[in-house]
Amino acid sequence: MEKAELIWHNGEFVPWDEARVHVLSHGLHYGTGVFEGERCYETERGPAIFRHRDHLERLARSAELFYLPLPYSTEEIAEATRELIRRNGLRSCYIRPIAFRGYGEMGLYAHSAPIEMTVAVWPWGAYLGEEGKSQGVRAKVSSWRRISPAGLIPHAKASGQYLNSILAKTESANAGYEEAILLDERGFVCEGSGENIFVVREGQLLTPPHVASILDGVNRRSVIQIARDLGYTVVERDIARAELYIAEEVFLTGTAAELVPVRSIDDHELGDPGEITRHVQGRFEDALCGRAEEYLEWLDPVEPAGPAGAADGDSVAARQGSSKVAP
Ligand SMILES: Cc1ncc(COP(=O)(O)O)c(C=O)c1O
Repeated sequence: MEKAELIWHNGEFVPWDEARVHVLSHGLHYGTGVFEGERCYETERGPAIFRHRDHLERLARSAELFYLPLPYSTEEIAEATRELIRRNGLRSCYIRPIAFRGYGEMGLYAHSAPIEMTVAVWPWGAYLGEEGKSQGVRAKVSSWRRISPAGLIPHAKASGQYLNSILAKTESANAGYEEAILLDERGFVCEGSGENIFVVREGQLLTPPHVASILDGVNRRSVIQIARDLGYTVVERDIARAELYIAEEVFLTGTAAELVPVRSIDDHELGDPGEITRHVQGRFEDALCGRAEEYLEWLDPVEPAGPAGAADGDSVAARQGSSKVAP
């Protein structure tokens, strides 16, 4: 991976190579951590983080669900992240906030072990490749089912839960595919190993509902809104496995991958990215990069607003109703 200069660790900006944890950190042994994946894009207003507040709110919810009291407020983490990007001099980057139980106590009820909090940023290109984004990827339905709500918490983005995604991703990669699609415990389509899924049938966009054990993807929500704004019907319903094979189009959404068409599933050819996928993808990319006026409120500018901007409250913090306006 490409390094940046600094990482924010437990409230301090430390050199990349010095951001260390103890080998007996609880999170390393038991997966007791919650994290986010976000992206900052170069826009006309300078670098801006896509749906920053939504990601940090999901982080807070994940932490709550796993009994991990966050040592910093959402606003403190948000400002530390903006400052980290500024100090690293990055114009666009991936952002990884993580909170985890650190060193101090072992065992499963280690409530005295401190919660550590880190935010790292670094340049990271398209997760499934630029070609994947333009030509589509080949996917395989995994033999591993997505974690069940009976045993874990699919709605949380928690470190230990990713062993499930890793099994699916590894299986598909070893079999020569670019991505895995997991079914839920009932056998309905759930999501990719790190992305939500959309299926086009008879001109409508279908996506699995929350009871299908999905992660409540920030980009899923964005794409649902964009597609509806473009005039498409979006239906959240259970999707049978075979519907993937007879779909007109299929695509994946996620922060790391962005919007990626799927060109074949289990060797059933869907072909080149379809018209609806292209249409939604184009608008989605406009939204990410600040080219779509109606979605500008999704972007949190990293640079402090200039005097003109500050005067008219022209910052995402102001637009989102936060008392804190960037200085
Ligand atoms: C398992 C899983 N599903 C879906 C997503 C997509 O979520 P988002 O759009 O918030 O990045 C991700 C990525 O965070 C993920 O890891």
